[in-house]
Amino acid sequence: PTYETLLVEQRGRVTLVTLNRPQALNALNSQILADLLAAMAAFDADPGQGCAVITGSEKAFAAGADIKEMQAQGFADMYAHDFFAGWDRFTKTRKPVIAAVSGYALGGGCELAMMCDFILAADSAKFGQPEIKLAVSPGMGGSQRLTRAVGKAKAMEMCLTGRMMDAAEAERAGLVSRVVPAAELVEEAVKTATTIAGMAPLAVLANKEMVNAAFETSLAMGVQFERRLFHALFATEDQSEGMSAFVEKRAGTWTGK
Ligand code: HXC
Repeated sequence: PTYETLLVEQRGRVTLVTLNRPQALNALNSQILADLLAAMAAFDADPGQGCAVITGSEKAFAAGADIKEMQAQGFADMYAHDFFAGWDRFTKTRKPVIAAVSGYALGGGCELAMMCDFILAADSAKFGQPEIKLAVSPGMGGSQRLTRAVGKAKAMEMCLTGRMMDAAEAERAGLVSRVVPAAELVEEAVKTATTIAGMAPLAVLANKEMVNAAFETSLAMGVQFERRLFHALFATEDQSEGMSAFVEKRAGTWTGK
């Protein structure tokens, strides 16, 4: 399928999604949301695909939610239609999604990056929640996910002042997993995604699910959730193949069962 606001290509078992509204620095309007939800649903449903990468342009991952689309809206419309609720569906993607961020990731752009499973940043990346300058606030989870990612001090300062964090600060703060030269960003993200997509599919789902559980549960419940899923993986063909392959000093081959 083709999308109005995205370029989607498959590189082996990796789905590379490029946000493509260059005239608006990839500002996230309802069309991008609809396209992304459709692309993620297709990715999740395709057993040939194991990991996705979402990237933008060199200048901007995404400069925010589309301000021109929101400008004329009032409370009644926003509330009645639960504006932005569609983004919750993006976070329900079951296979891993890597954000590869170059340039601006502001407002909704930063929030989209944080909805992904981890962020790889180009050295040119700039993260921020500048909504307060528009007399509003984060609305796609930024106040919650940024606080969990970098702690209260930085999250509060960024939300209250709207200042941007560069790639080096984002790495120190734990917002991004790694920083790479801008020219190598997409290649490095696809390489990382290829590694993930080469793992046993059920183990990939389980690992993603249990790390995410850490944000929703107490330690004891989270550890129990992990252990139960770990036990469950011993019901898979791939577990027995993976351990046999190790003992026999060969590479494992996965059936996804
Ligand atoms: C709609 C946007 C946009 C946005 C940029 N554009 N950001 N359109 N929504 N969020 C458009 C500009 O209007 C312009 O269109 C074109 O993209 C290029 O942008 P410029 O500003 O000319 O580029 P530049 O001077 O290089 O500045 C880049 C920038 C700046 C620093 C990123 O564009 C900027 O500050 N953008 C807004 C950032 C922001 O406030 N984001 C948070 C959005 S609110 P034209 O047609 O003029 O060429 C948000 C809210 C979520 O995300 C929660 C609820 C509100």
